[in-house]
Amino acid sequence: MSQVKLNAARSALKAIPKSGSIGLGSGSTVAIFAKELGHLISQGESDICVVPSSYQAYQLAISHGIPLTNLDQNPELTLTVDGADEVDKNLNLTKGGGGALFREKIVASASKKLVIIIDESKLVDKLASRFLIPIEVLPFSLGVVQRKIKDMGIEPIVREAAKKMGPVVTDNGNFLIDLKFPKPIDNPAIVATDLKLIPGVLETGLFIDMTDEVHVGKEDGVSILKK
Ligand code: A5P
Repeated sequence: MSQVKLNAARSALKAIPKSGSIGLGSGSTVAIFAKELGHLISQGESDICVVPSSYQAYQLAISHGIPLTNLDQNPELTLTVDGADEVDKNLNLTKGGGGALFREKIVASASKKLVIIIDESKLVDKLASRFLIPIEVLPFSLGVVQRKIKDMGIEPIVREAAKKMGPVVTDNGNFLIDLKFPKPIDNPAIVATDLKLIPGVLETGLFIDMTDEVHVGKEDGVSILKK
């Protein structure tokens, strides 16, 4: 297990309440967080239940003995702990490397606080520096969305599955397009809005002005960035 990710996960664990409902993000760093949370619960030191943001998170909760809840019973969550692919200096994020961006954003939007756990490699000056920005699209709209994205000067790359022929199908039954921008983005808020205005684009991996804290794991500890 990565010591760096473990340090970020343990730091976020200190930020969660003793009881109540929180959002559980997705990804490899969240997997470490879930294991640690499961340990606390098994020791009787935590009375938390989680809304999972993906099938991965759902299965993590089950395998680590973390009680589950949902947004119908708990439409307001104390906080969400999630990972990220890129974090800029304003704490805006690129997410969706694991394809869970749509539910991740819904769970984050239900939360009073969004706590992000990353390693230092995720910190960038501007988004789209190192990572393609994914969007989730309705399969019916794939062709027209690709055309409109190209018209915006962005290269659309339909995400292909690794152990299945054809495109990745998300937890919601949709497709993903990874967007290759010609250069890092100067104004991610405008880009996020422009993309969302294309009919068929269900959600983007740009998380703008949502993050409260970023716990950056390092070999010897953690640093916490706050809004
Ligand atoms: C899942 O769709 C993503 O948003 C992840 O949260 C993100 O890719 C970070 O994952 P890692 O913690 O595995 O880097």
